[in-house]
Amino acid sequence: MRVELRILRRAPGRGPYWQAFSLETEGRERVLDLLLRVKAELDGTLAFRYSCGHGVCGSDAMTINGRNRLACKTLVKDLGRILTVEPLRALPARKDLIVDLEPFFAAYRAVKPYLINDEPPPARERLQSPEERARYEEATRCILCAACTSSCPVYWVNGHYIGPAAIVQAHRFLFDSRDRGKRERFKALGSGSGVWRCRTAYNCTEACPRDIPVTQLIEEVKRAILFDRF
Ligand code: SF4
Ligand code: F3S
Ligand code: FES
Repeated sequence: MRVELRILRRAPGRGPYWQAFSLETEGRERVLDLLLRVKAELDGTLAFRYSCGHGVCGSDAMTINGRNRLACKTLVKDLGRILTVEPLRALPARKDLIVDLEPFFAAYRAVKPYLINDEPPPARERLQSPEERARYEEATRCILCAACTSSCPVYWVNGHYIGPAAIVQAHRFLFDSRDRGKRERFKALGSGSGVWRCRTAYNCTEACPRDIPVTQLIEEVKRAILFDRF
């Protein structure tokens, strides 16, 4: 079938503009395949990020037909004959589909996304039961693609909100039985830019390509701050 691929482009010195490409496809191709074909065969100046090509690295999140998705996991046959592709919203667009992810990673760093434990280490590893490990399993699936944060209406109007992805990363360590860093993380999470900005809009949960129940994890972090229960 023939599809029209409309891409919202941007170049230095030139504001955003739409460019359309007409492509023949069997439908089982992914949006990433079409972008690669455009770049190889029609316009080598098209800029976009990707790496693994298989839903693991999180680098090709973009807004496809109005919804945040990974280009490498989105089949053309599921989209109809007109495809629109835009850079993620609310993050500064730099060139074509490439956005500046620094604000996103600044929020990520603010929640200290690493194990904090200054107790003397045991002779061997810090043991953890399967039940304790399961407590934060869902958060470990996050690939930091930014699809959730850039789909959040609170983030659209307040770029200082740390956003759902950073809260998911905080959840990963707050509910780890080996971690002792909750007080340090609460500084960012409980601040005016933290979890209380969330209005349970659920866009983040709908956007997540890893099916993480993002809103539920945010609510768990809110309760943890309120009741300090782990
Ligand atoms: Fe992406 Fe989901 Fe992680 Fe958000 S929670 S960054 S949507 S994988
Ligand atoms: Fe935003 Fe998700 Fe909360 S979309 S308002 S972070 S539930
Ligand atoms: Fe790695 Fe899509 S290219 S997740």
